[in-house]
Amino acid sequence: MTILLLSGSPSLPSRSTRLLQYAGEKLNALGQRTVSLHVRDLPAEALMNADFSDTELNVARLLIERADALVIATPIYKAAYSGLLKAFLDILPQDGLDGKIVLPLATAGSQSHMLALDYALRPVLTSLSARHVLPGVYATDAQVQWHEQQGLQLDAAIAQRVGAGVELLAESLLSLRHIYASKPAVAELLCCRA
Ligand SMILES: Cc1cc2nc3c(=O)[nH]c(=O)nc-3n(C[C@H](O)[C@H](O)[C@H](O)COP(=O)(O)O)c2cc1C
Repeated sequence: MTILLLSGSPSLPSRSTRLLQYAGEKLNALGQRTVSLHVRDLPAEALMNADFSDTELNVARLLIERADALVIATPIYKAAYSGLLKAFLDILPQDGLDGKIVLPLATAGSQSHMLALDYALRPVLTSLSARHVLPGVYATDAQVQWHEQQGLQLDAAIAQRVGAGVELLAESLLSLRHIYASKPAVAELLCCRA
């Protein structure tokens, strides 16, 4: 079983990506295998032109196809998820998340758009046929701090919500294990990336 950690922020460094990495570490501690994909690393022109002949885009699409679950992290931009993430979701097939469990994460400047994951991202994930979209975690910048010395400093409530989210994701995967037992491993794909 493989969980894809999908980062939709164009920024580097990125708060939402750090929150995603934290979720990934929690999943690894639960014995789950994770693979990371940062949309910002994909070739921008191919992404914008939906160039299906581009090798990197096709590898990214295959990573999605072969994952059993996804954790998707995005910054909140203009009361919705990032345009970069939308550009990537747009190049997936209409049922591109068929059967998959998704845990959404977002970071934002304020609490103002805390429903954005539900009103903006969730309908898109559902239209891509995601099996379950788990309750998302929305954190403000003040709740996700980075310090050179201490590293990531998470507000206790956010750490608790991410912990609960990844546990629910792991439990959901366990209950679906028998369905996916025959899927090829994502690791086979990763071995072939340049
Ligand atoms: C172009 C832009 C638009 C933004 N729009 C919003 C917004 O509508 N609501 C909000 O709460 N924060 C907004 N923010 C703040 C970001 O969501 C926030 O800083 C987030 O943590 C950035 O995540 P990242 O570092 O992963 O890119 C915006 C930031 C940028 C650069």
